[in-house]
Amino acid sequence: MKLLVINGPNLGLLGQREPDVYGSETLADIEQSLQETASELGVELDTFQSNEEGALVTAIGDASGVYDGIIINPAAYTHTSVALRDAIKATGLPCVEVHLSNTHAREEFRHTSLTAPVCTGQIMGFGGKGYVLALKGIVEKLRSDAS
Ligand code: DQA
Repeated sequence: MKLLVINGPNLGLLGQREPDVYGSETLADIEQSLQETASELGVELDTFQSNEEGALVTAIGDASGVYDGIIINPAAYTHTSVALRDAIKATGLPCVEVHLSNTHAREEFRHTSLTAPVCTGQIMGFGGKGYVLALKGIVEKLRSDAS
């Protein structure tokens, strides 16, 4: 089983970016925890980060036939991108949306997710640990769907 973790704009700055909101872990720290969990679960995991909407759309589109599922934090594009929503829907792959912060407890413009309705599930408010929860959840679901 092979999973792809996609991170959107400004998430490469984790650790130095608003640590009171997003915590002190860097993206590299989070990706290392994910790789450790992936090897415990016996699955393969690739990671991708971009600040560019088109690159994210392409990564999602190219995932079909290569990966079994996607974990994505679309960051600010969550609230604006019809293109990302359409790309997720078009892959047909199960997808878990992750947010480090609880976006519902923040500014009103963060309360709407254009991407969540086309995802299998959503995890938010647990900081970097949310990615690990998403990985465990999607692997368990894929395994139970296959049995
Ligand atoms: C975020 C929440 C978004 O509103 C914000 O634009 C981000 C990060 C989160 O992980 O909490 O960049 O996706």
